[in-house]
Amino acid sequence: MMFDKPSISIIGLGYVGLPLAVHLAKHFKVTGFDINQDRISELKESYDRTGEISSPELKNSTLHLTSNEEEIIGHDIHIVTVPTPVDENNEPDLRPVHMASETVGRIIKPGNVIVYESTVYPGVTEDDCGPILAKISGLECGKDFFLGYSPERINPGDREHTVDTITKVVAGQNKAVSELLSHVYGTMNGGKIFIAKNIKTAEAAKVIENAQRDINIAFVNEISIIFQKLGISVYDVLEAAGTKWNFLNFQPGLVGGHCIGVDPYYLAHCAKAFGHDPKVILSGRSTNESMSNAVSAAIHQTLKARNPDLAQPRTLILGLTFKEDVPDLRNTKVTDIIAELRSLGHLIDVHDPMADPKEAEEFFKIQLKPSLEMSEAYDCVVGAVPHEGYLNLTNTSIEQLVKPSGLIADMKGMWRTRQFDEKYSYWCL
Ligand SMILES: NC(=O)c1ccc[n+]([C@@H]2O[C@H](COP(=O)([O-])OP(=O)(O)OC[C@H]3O[C@@H](n4cnc5c(N)ncnc54)[C@H](O)[C@@H]3O)[C@@H](O)[C@H]2O)c1
Repeated sequence: MMFDKPSISIIGLGYVGLPLAVHLAKHFKVTGFDINQDRISELKESYDRTGEISSPELKNSTLHLTSNEEEIIGHDIHIVTVPTPVDENNEPDLRPVHMASETVGRIIKPGNVIVYESTVYPGVTEDDCGPILAKISGLECGKDFFLGYSPERINPGDREHTVDTITKVVAGQNKAVSELLSHVYGTMNGGKIFIAKNIKTAEAAKVIENAQRDINIAFVNEISIIFQKLGISVYDVLEAAGTKWNFLNFQPGLVGGHCIGVDPYYLAHCAKAFGHDPKVILSGRSTNESMSNAVSAAIHQTLKARNPDLAQPRTLILGLTFKEDVPDLRNTKVTDIIAELRSLGHLIDVHDPMADPKEAEEFFKIQLKPSLEMSEAYDCVVGAVPHEGYLNLTNTSIEQLVKPSGLIADMKGMWRTRQFDEKYSYWCL
């Protein structure tokens, strides 16, 4: 074993880095580093704005927090968990990963192991990051320091599949590094480790996990549009087909967030660089990207069918985050629905009890309604995100939000088994 009880630094304390750091800190000496000083200050006050780690858990953790890179000098393993977004052309934006590699390059010592957890396409760890680390540190990759890759699979808001319970794929630049990573991650998750053949294989495994989901959702989205035209509900069809033992359970909807809607572009970029046109992957992306347009058009048409003279419908959107029961606003596609309905003349109000009002204002110039109580009635109410609070709304509290002959638009089918008063229209996919 390279180290028996290694000390570990985690670079980037977001949705992935913080839970990892807190769980590893139960077994090892761990320092969490982030360039965002506000994030570090909040965490030091035991507040995690992502909602993944509770205040008592943070308070009781031995995790050391810093935004000073000097304080990660001397750690044996450095794990990089910084964002990997796409740019405006849907091309991989590797700047955070490169910047984090420069940080680590400045502080690594001979014998250190640098592990990437950020989702990338095959080759980024060894062909991009290794050379940056070597150049900045003046050390030789594979001789003075070593690389590893271990993809992260957790899912914001998922309390069942947590970092300490799910199987972790690991890969090292050599056998000793793979064994070290098995030991470190296995100590945290009860030994549920899969050692991938090599780093590129582990990188590829992660990126296809999400590309596969994206393609399956695209299929369900496509059939939902077909069945709308046929006048049958995709949910009813899925329920029937789902009784077959090998039918895959995917639901229609917008694909936002930081992973499923982004990672396929990483794979596509890599495919194109190697001379292959990734038709299936990009077709799935394009179908999912066009969903907000299809949904807004359907909502608008259904509202107008009963209210043909309504020029500027007053519309309330329930939910802004990219998925249910999380505060995460990154890459939410609800903003596309809002923009499209606005372009069709709708005057929009937005409510979301999970989202941070300051972030909604800062990112999207949206002022969230503080409460639904005493709200005026709207021509159209769009259930956009199935937060638990919205699932639990009674028929009366939903109907109070809607004018007679107005529309209850249920984007995720969360109220589809309800019977609303006939004076309202109801729409879902
Ligand atoms: N969010 C998820 O559920 C999830 C799941 C699996 C994989 N991933 C992947 O994990 C990676 C991290 O995602 P995330 O959701 O945790 O991102 P995030 O935006 O929540 O957090 C990233 C953190 O890194 C910090 N950071 C950015 N650049 C830095 C730098 N150069 N040095 C130090 N800190 C830096 C940011 O301030 C932020 O706090 C991405 O590659 C993502 O695709 C995310």
